[in-house]
Amino acid sequence: MSELVRLERRAAVAIVTIDRPERMNALSWATVQQLGELGRELASDPGVRVCVVTGAGEKAFCAGADLKERQGMSRGQVREMLGAYRSELAWLEKSDFVSVAAINGVALGGGLELALTCDLRIAAPLAVFGLPETGLGIIPGAGGTQRIARLLGESRALDLVLTGRRIDSSEALALGLVNRVAPSAEQLLDSALKWLEPVAEGAPLAQRAALSAVRAARRLPLEEGLDFERAAYERCLDSADREEALLALSEKRKPRFQGK
Ligand code: COA
Repeated sequence: MSELVRLERRAAVAIVTIDRPERMNALSWATVQQLGELGRELASDPGVRVCVVTGAGEKAFCAGADLKERQGMSRGQVREMLGAYRSELAWLEKSDFVSVAAINGVALGGGLELALTCDLRIAAPLAVFGLPETGLGIIPGAGGTQRIARLLGESRALDLVLTGRRIDSSEALALGLVNRVAPSAEQLLDSALKWLEPVAEGAPLAQRAALSAVRAARRLPLEEGLDFERAAYERCLDSADREEALLALSEKRKPRFQGK
């Protein structure tokens, strides 16, 4: 099987690169399957604290569904593909680590939906974003309508979903579609790693508890969310890392966290 997705490990950080630059890193069936396999492998490794997802080459993060492959697909196969987006990419928002899309170029359709499945997003200055699906007689089918509405609110989501218009990085930043924009394309990965250093090197139990609690806010009503937060806090309260942090503060030194 050819390698459509590459993995690089840098200590607690995993860097996943979609490697089909000749097809603008589009999501073929095999690419989605490989992303799923890799994701399951990473999710079972407690040493991974941050996972950065990016695209190979300078042009595209991911141009969405592989439209050349799609042309030859039956309706049944398209339905299977929609199921695969959901099952094979779910790890990005369900694993114990933080997932970050480092958007190095075009993020269109399923490419933007992939970025929306991640917890956080950073973009290169010349990245381009859009959900052009309605112009192709379909709708975003990899969770895009749901996630963009939750992230930006209904009005901004409808603007992008119904018009299919393309926006640049500064508009994406102003809308809140990306958390930040790197100074240059060359500095994208380094900017992402620097930004997430406190996550990769922070107290593991607290990081995990905080991540699960904030993610829970998407699906829980407030009272249940407050209960969830309380239970997550409890997991930190008994930890040796909490005591170590207090001790380090009094000794004016950096804490040495052990994830206990
Ligand atoms: N699926 C499969 N192949 C794709 C693709 C996609 N989604 N997007 C681009 N490619 C291929 C092109 O067909 C071309 O291959 P070819 O030279 O063999 O024909 C190659 O990638 C380069 O694309 P090209 O259009 O020549 O480059 P560009 O820089 O002018 O434009 C895009 C890049 C991504 C803006 C443009 O290709 C585009 O709009 N693609 C469609 C994106 C889209 O609508 N995605 C949503 C799907 S729901």
